[in-house]
Amino acid sequence: MSKTIIVSNRLPVKITEKDGEYVLNPSEGGLATGLGSIYRQGYNIWIGWPGIDVSEEAQPQIREQLQTLNLMPVYLTQEEINNYYEGFSNEVLWPVFHYMSVYARYEQVYWDFYYQVNSKFRDVVLQVAEPGDVIWIHDYQLLLLPGMIRSEAPDVAIGYFQHIPFPSYELFRLIPWRCELLEGMLGADLLGFHTFDDSHHFLNAVTRLLPVNASANVVMVNDRAVIAETFPMGIDNQKFEQLSHDPEVLRQMESLKESFQQTHLVLSIDRLDYSKGIIQRLQAFELFLQLYPEYVEKVILYMIVVPSRDSVPQYRELRDAIDMLAGGINARFRTINWHPINYFYRSFPIETLAALYNFADVGLVTPMRDGMNLVSKEYVASRKNNDGVLILSEMAGASKELIDALIVNPNNIGAIARALHEALNMPEAEQQRRMKQMRQVVGKFNISHWVKLFMARLQEVKQMQQSMLAR
Ligand code: G6P
Repeated sequence: MSKTIIVSNRLPVKITEKDGEYVLNPSEGGLATGLGSIYRQGYNIWIGWPGIDVSEEAQPQIREQLQTLNLMPVYLTQEEINNYYEGFSNEVLWPVFHYMSVYARYEQVYWDFYYQVNSKFRDVVLQVAEPGDVIWIHDYQLLLLPGMIRSEAPDVAIGYFQHIPFPSYELFRLIPWRCELLEGMLGADLLGFHTFDDSHHFLNAVTRLLPVNASANVVMVNDRAVIAETFPMGIDNQKFEQLSHDPEVLRQMESLKESFQQTHLVLSIDRLDYSKGIIQRLQAFELFLQLYPEYVEKVILYMIVVPSRDSVPQYRELRDAIDMLAGGINARFRTINWHPINYFYRSFPIETLAALYNFADVGLVTPMRDGMNLVSKEYVASRKNNDGVLILSEMAGASKELIDALIVNPNNIGAIARALHEALNMPEAEQQRRMKQMRQVVGKFNISHWVKLFMARLQEVKQMQQSMLAR
């Protein structure tokens, strides 16, 4: 019987270690939830890195524990983590794909390890892959994997989905290994992107850099038709709707109500990343307080930054810059009873996030670049009374769907400050009209819809290839 193999850099599980003891906790991330319906069934499996450096003695035991969850580990050495994950993935691909190419460090050793670790993933996939299987590879850490698997198993169906933007050709061409990366991607039968622009940029790079024939979204690779298409990813909207009624969430909302009587709450939640526009968002909030001093003591920016990739230098520098700026704004504007920014550098349980999503008057999501941005959709899905206002960057993939948000250019500090004022003064009827429309979109195009659509399309592409060969 054929099976589905999911492959991503990280497994959907969080492993923590204390005094040599390892504890496994399933991840609550959107992708893990969405793909749960697939990888937990039958012989299906999810292959990935467990996220920490597991000692050699502990590896067999963790492998067994993971097996009971249909997960299979790819163990990485510290050197591989440094050069493949932190190096090539997060110091070359991440900055270039997010249009921040000045941050890129094109080190040969990063590339060597990227190639080596993609080969390691290939070997693990080939241990379990059989003819007729479907392999779905996720994200930029594994761009070479589709091609590496294709050379060894020419008939399997391979899908690839890119969760981050695909940049314009002018940015992509900067990467010294650009052709190898594209050739790796073209090992897939179906390549999915969040937005039309991302798939267009990919096709443009392919036709300009490789000697292949392409028409519309079909690229011919040695008589094999490869398709690139747009599949905007959704969230598990029902989970957020249910959380809005959860007793613990309601309790936390009550305590927020008590703490913030007479104060509007503007909510900002991100992973620490320079692509998220956190500095510009703080500057915009500062300008807002300057332009509209009547909001002193009347509004609070509740800002959660979840620690991430803190061994990459730019992330540490950004953390320090945020500390300084948030501290400076608080020092400048605070009064005896109030300070404008509640800043947290930590993660929170999902119930706390849900309480904040439900309570905040404004969701402020202003990334410089974002493949999709699921926080904006989670805010919308949580607004069970159809009120509240979303301010959303036009550089987030989500802005192509959530067109009833107040859409801003995240570099335009003045525009964000004015949007904040507009949001805090928006009549209830208009809030309702906009939020209802957005809730419909988030409800219909949810994560299970996304998974079904991609899998069905991959089957179709495979059938189309077979009928082309039969002709
Ligand atoms: C983005 C990427 C994912 C990545 C996640 C967290 O959403 O698209 O591939 O897993 O960030 O980053 P990390 O480096 O901690 O895996």
